[in-house]
Amino acid sequence: PESMLFSYRGISFPVTLTSPETLEALKSFETRSDDVILTGYPKTGTNWLGTILTELDSADAKYTEEEVEERINAEKKLEIFPRLEFGDPGVFERMKKLPSRRIIQTHLPPHLLPPSMFQNKAKILLLLRNPKDTAVSYYHFYNNMPQLPSFASWDEYFAAFMQGKLTWGSYFDHSVEWNKYIDHEKIMMISYEELKEDQVLGMKKIAAFFGFSLCEEDFSRIAKKTTFQAMKEKSMETHGKLGHALFRKGVVGNWRDFFSKAQNEEMDKKFEDCLGGTKLAAKVNY
Ligand code: PPS
Repeated sequence: PESMLFSYRGISFPVTLTSPETLEALKSFETRSDDVILTGYPKTGTNWLGTILTELDSADAKYTEEEVEERINAEKKLEIFPRLEFGDPGVFERMKKLPSRRIIQTHLPPHLLPPSMFQNKAKILLLLRNPKDTAVSYYHFYNNMPQLPSFASWDEYFAAFMQGKLTWGSYFDHSVEWNKYIDHEKIMMISYEELKEDQVLGMKKIAAFFGFSLCEEDFSRIAKKTTFQAMKEKSMETHGKLGHALFRKGVVGNWRDFFSKAQNEEMDKKFEDCLGGTKLAAKVNY
């Protein structure tokens, strides 16, 4: 039912996770120059990359296991949820209490983010995933989450995805908007697919971008800790009941089991029309 959602500047959001007041208050959120910012459309693998970032940052800061634990608990105590746009409007005041470096995650398009994010030296990592697997992942999430309306069929959902009628808006609009920032020196793109192919290489690129210094052992330890299987096994602990919906399959190419030939062509065309020839499209390896 529609009452599960509200609309803010033309984009819908779940009432259980955020509010117009929070999205309004977000505009005056002060970014710090050492904030580590992760942005990605829903279902592009943000929980995976968010965990990787916490691990990379903690290894660079030489935190002990207990200190990492403390860090995660501090966020819980302040009721800071894993996405910048989640929670009550007071969350931004509480975030001021977090010590640096803060790892900030969001699914929002740039025009809904605080201007401070683009004005100081904070670095932004943009996570991309091919639209077909993203669509399939979001479909299952929608139908598994009581906080979201469900779709009667894949075909009905596919039409909504193509029209951008989903929470956090359109995959295509999101990509087009972020693509405008690609040449910003403080923005780096990484794709789900390249991380799947060689996670250590992907992590090395990320570490170089943020200026983290880690040894080979750190990289291989973190890669082992953040495989799909390892994260799924710990998901009850890390994400509670949400875990089973979040860690679903964790592969590239699952779209082949869902897309009809016509849907495949329709999406190829839409992607080409919106993003053909862009740096972002090249990165998605489309
Ligand atoms: S959310 O709800 O928008 O925050 O979801 P998000 O975390 O961005 O994306 C969920 C998809 O990421 C997959 N995932 C992983 N893939 C590979 N390795 C690891 N460790 C991993 N962790 C999560 C998760 O399974 C979702 O994709 P699908 O295709 O649905 O499996």
